[in-house]
Amino acid sequence: MILAMQTFYGRLVLPLLALWFTVQFVSAKHTVITRRYKFNVQMTNVTRLCTTKALLTVNGQYPGPPIVAREGDRVVVNVTNNVQNNVSIHWHGIRQLRSGWADGPAYVTQCPIQTGQSYVYKFIIKRQRGTLWWHAHISWLRASLHGPIIIYPKKNASYPFPRPHQEVPIVFGEWGNADTETVINQALQSGAQANVSDAYTMNGLPGLMYNCSANDTFRLKVIPGKTYLLRLVNAALNSDLFFGIANHTLTVVEADAVYVKPFQTNIILITPGQTTNVLFTAMSQPPNATFLILAGPFATGTAAFDNSTSAGVLEYVANGTPVNTSSLPMMKPTLPAPNDTCFRSQFSQKMRSLGNPNFPAASAPQKVDKQFLFTVGLGLNPCPQGQTCQGPNNTKFAASINNISFIQPTTALLQAYYFNQSNGVYNTTFPDNPPFPFNYTGTPPNNTRTLNDTRVELLPFNTTVQLVLQDTSIVTFESHPLHLHGFNFFIVGQGMGNYNASTDPANFNLVDPPERNTVGVPSGGWAALRFLADNPGVWFMHCHLEPHTSWGLKMAWVVLNGNGGRSQSLLPPPKDLPPC
Ligand code: C2O
Repeated sequence: MILAMQTFYGRLVLPLLALWFTVQFVSAKHTVITRRYKFNVQMTNVTRLCTTKALLTVNGQYPGPPIVAREGDRVVVNVTNNVQNNVSIHWHGIRQLRSGWADGPAYVTQCPIQTGQSYVYKFIIKRQRGTLWWHAHISWLRASLHGPIIIYPKKNASYPFPRPHQEVPIVFGEWGNADTETVINQALQSGAQANVSDAYTMNGLPGLMYNCSANDTFRLKVIPGKTYLLRLVNAALNSDLFFGIANHTLTVVEADAVYVKPFQTNIILITPGQTTNVLFTAMSQPPNATFLILAGPFATGTAAFDNSTSAGVLEYVANGTPVNTSSLPMMKPTLPAPNDTCFRSQFSQKMRSLGNPNFPAASAPQKVDKQFLFTVGLGLNPCPQGQTCQGPNNTKFAASINNISFIQPTTALLQAYYFNQSNGVYNTTFPDNPPFPFNYTGTPPNNTRTLNDTRVELLPFNTTVQLVLQDTSIVTFESHPLHLHGFNFFIVGQGMGNYNASTDPANFNLVDPPERNTVGVPSGGWAALRFLADNPGVWFMHCHLEPHTSWGLKMAWVVLNGNGGRSQSLLPPPKDLPPC
């Protein structure tokens, strides 16, 4: 399996294997294997759509190199910052049990790594296998600083599905001809929406449907009759995506590194932050057509969006030679319309945790200690005196949770918490419920001013939490992919309109709810989550649409240590933790 990765990504794997053998050699029963990586953040010129840009990359690669490990392994990544920007890296979906210092969001768990400095991220992958991903977690640097995390099952453990012939990561991203830092800085300055991207990409390649892009097309080589596992990652900055392959049915088997009950579909939907593993089988005979692989936007708000499509090609190889289909008809999968919310709700209903005797699922908390209702949505801030703003009616776009638009502190929350220096950094008054209830999905009230502050929610160790996320119609409905650091949650319910605390819980799925780290809160609706606060530390939660995060749709949970000593406590900070 690991060797199959080598054909795809090349040179990283050999040192890894060497290391693996060394460690195996001395391995007793409980030896933890360590996977070591060196990430050099550097500027690299990349050309797409006939535009050359200096991109921030890891080791010169765009998208970045994969982290490959097994469940139970320890991962050590030495990140060195060789660029002018401050940098931090997040290991999206990794639970980071007690190792919050390695989580990565800038000014939440660490101060960023400054130019010329290094930081070594160390964590153990526990009870997770499948696909996750890593990305920069400061400003919009994740536009080009991202890559997959591939977690194989433990040695000698199998998949809950037939072993595929080959495994291929496909990382979706966005390419903008403009510099993304300039784009977001201008938007924050003017109060306007950020300019949208020029193309979607698969593994960094926009593909056939854009001008000046035919040579930058993702090609997936397949052998007739063989089955493939695609490890899909949505690393796009600002778009949920539909994905499909013409004339080939996909079987969804895993999402956010948790196995799901397999189901078949022609199209999948994936929000920024989510990962999905799908199987498909190549036709038994070389085809009489060219089959396209497409990824295109799902967008429900009134905001402008990049309404273009990334196209790759499924390339059949028969008897060792590629079948030339270029003169044959081109078949495209039919992606839903960009605003197809029906598809969204039907698709999300199909996601169920696997939970069979050989692959038991973790169970959702059956009873809850603490309940929260959080509104998530857009808002408007007044224009500063003496300035003109380009949001609606001379305002600035904002976004909030329970009307609090999160202000990024200048020191890391986790340090402030650990060293008892929260004064002037954050306060613990985050509202458990909307500060003023209104008809969240009706005509919005006039006074929609948000409060700008740095507030957190405090949770005692092992609290069982029910969190309902409610979209609002302020400015516009929109689907918000909410991501929680440090935990997986169970999506026990979702619906349209306003959440009803007396009638909706009766319909919750506590039997086989999907367990994920990112949920697409329905546009004009709500999602109910449950999780066990068993991981002490400070954990970020935010919308994974980057403009919304920049506008303040984010907050943090502080989970206290338990009384059980070291095993229920956050570990001390590492010596090389970057200073602010
Ligand atoms: Cu994928 Cu806080 O991020």
